[in-house]
Amino acid sequence: MEAGNATSAAVLQARELVKRFGGREALRGIDFEAAAGELVAVIGPNGAGKTTLLSILAGISRPDGGEVHVPQGEVGWVPQQAALYRRLTVEENLMLFARLEKHEDPRASTEQMLELTGLTERRGEIVARLSGGNQQRINIAIGLLARPSVLLLDEPSVGLDPRQRARLWEFVSALASEGGTTVIFSTHDIQEAERYGGRLLVLADGEALFDGSADGLREAVRREAPEAADQDFETAFVAFLHHRGH
Ligand SMILES: Nc1ncnc2c1ncn2[C@@H]1O[C@H](COP(=O)(O)OP(=O)(O)OP(=O)(O)O)[C@@H](O)[C@H]1O
Ligand SMILES: [Mg+2]
Repeated sequence: MEAGNATSAAVLQARELVKRFGGREALRGIDFEAAAGELVAVIGPNGAGKTTLLSILAGISRPDGGEVHVPQGEVGWVPQQAALYRRLTVEENLMLFARLEKHEDPRASTEQMLELTGLTERRGEIVARLSGGNQQRINIAIGLLARPSVLLLDEPSVGLDPRQRARLWEFVSALASEGGTTVIFSTHDIQEAERYGGRLLVLADGEALFDGSADGLREAVRREAPEAADQDFETAFVAFLHHRGH
């Protein structure tokens, strides 16, 4: 990973991804790639396949069909449910995960993460007593421990107040723009996707309906659901989904 050197070469590629759960197809042939420094928002209704896609990219789940190419050992995964040890301190949690991930120098990795996520002053606090926003920062810090070139976040802003959200996105945007990290996140907040996602991937029922900029999505809405094109982005988005049969 070269700092600040976003190129158009794909660092992550998925071809024709298929995932089935019993008779149900959660992903029906998804093609997706992302370059260094890209910030991609994955949006779409409940059950669209967002978590399924992210967990396959993270290597947590295997596809039933298709191929995934990710930089080996360099993908950070931040699941929606933080797996933190609530009775331990911030620092103890990071140390524990650094040990579990077999870092050569767990203490050094922990110090780096405390610094990077602005948690140094909170290092000695018991996790259970922190606000949801700060717990989420630890969750992200753990995803970042291995200094991954690709970071995957499943609904990272759920439960955060507006100020905490702004801090989260400031931090995550900087990882992408300054660190060249490829960031892919899911959200149900369409405004957030529009604001922070340089690119939007729209999933519904396991299919990709759109992949491009927020402006591009607005154009697609204007073409396909012109009656909603001048509404707020969320309303326009719902009309677009409806037009496509979802
Ligand atoms: N472990 C599982 N076992 C069975 N079915 C599953 C499993 N995980 C996901 N599914 C199914 O796969 C589909 C996609 O689920 P997924 O969790 O990826 O959706 P999502 O877009 O993340 O939804 P949400 O917005 O509610 O988080 C759904 O129909 C879901 O019921
Ligand atoms: Mg999900």
